[in-house]
Amino acid sequence: MKEQQFQEKIDLEKKIEPKDWMPVDYRKHLIRQISQHAHSEIIGMQPEGNWISRAPSLRAKMILLAKVQDEAGHGLYLYSACETLGISREELVEQLQDGKAKYSSIFNYPTLSWADMGAVGWLVDGAAIVNQVSLQRTSYGPYSRGMVKICKEESFHQRQGYEIMADMANGTPQQKEMAQDALNRFWWPSIMMFGPQDSDSPRTGNAMKWKIKRQFNDELRQKFIDQTVGQAEVIGLTIPDPDLKWNEEKGHYDFGEMDWDEFWSVVNGNGPCNIQRLEHHKKAHSDGKWVREAAKDYSKKQKSTETN
Ligand code: 3HC
Repeated sequence: MKEQQFQEKIDLEKKIEPKDWMPVDYRKHLIRQISQHAHSEIIGMQPEGNWISRAPSLRAKMILLAKVQDEAGHGLYLYSACETLGISREELVEQLQDGKAKYSSIFNYPTLSWADMGAVGWLVDGAAIVNQVSLQRTSYGPYSRGMVKICKEESFHQRQGYEIMADMANGTPQQKEMAQDALNRFWWPSIMMFGPQDSDSPRTGNAMKWKIKRQFNDELRQKFIDQTVGQAEVIGLTIPDPDLKWNEEKGHYDFGEMDWDEFWSVVNGNGPCNIQRLEHHKKAHSDGKWVREAAKDYSKKQKSTETN
């Protein structure tokens, strides 16, 4: 009976709120997805953070700083949304550090040149926008509202990345070469952000039934490719896919076969930077222990002065 009432609510496009009854599997699915989304935001700060001290100008440094700070805020919104499902921040961080929870595969690739800051903003945040705009309509209230706020900031992330790529593609031959090299290295890992093909996606059935997801992985991937090919052409860069071709009949680009072995190898922890990313997170987390303790003591003291 409760299951039926819940599904009717979903079908009527009503948002599910923290205090509402929900199936255990709906709660588990959301904790998995929102926590992995939050982990992605936080781990995603590392590849870009590496370049803050090496930005080529004060303006570039300020923009990158602002972007990386935004990602920390996105992580905060998403961890907070996840905590409304009855799991603590400590548990979530533990799952990440123990390798029980994943984060987006894209962040396990190294950022080797300044052009990579352009490729990450343009492609990674560009892909994230396609995914997250769709997620604004997710059925869980706190997640949906967090997405609306995050999407407002993502367009700045994508534009600043594209500006870096455009400047370099129109710069010296060496700069153009760096931009093309960054595109070559980030193109395929960026389209892998949309997840496995729907046929291989174990959870897509429930995700669509409960309107956690509103569009299929492959549909969102196709949308991102269709909108990005033209952007590369405008700045004179070549997408590293010889099979990429406009299909007039379908109204979409046909594209080459993805390397699913690479995808699953990176997702399962064997990418170029998986170990480094988690080690860095563990060190930063332990270095920040004193801040968390001081904040906890301060709020305890505040509470006791308020009650006296
Ligand atoms: N990277 C890492 N893990 C991935 C993955 C990817 N690209 N794609 C799939 N997986 C994992 C899933 O988490 C799942 O692992 P689990 O069983 O241990 O939980 C497993 O592979 C099977 O995949 P599924 O098909 O079941 O996964 P989904 O259908 O949930 O699709 C997803 C994966 C597209 C990532 C989906 O979970 C999703 O849309 N999540 C919300 C958005 C998100 O997390 N985006 C990540 C990037 S955030 C970002 O880029 C920040 C921006 O500011 C730059």
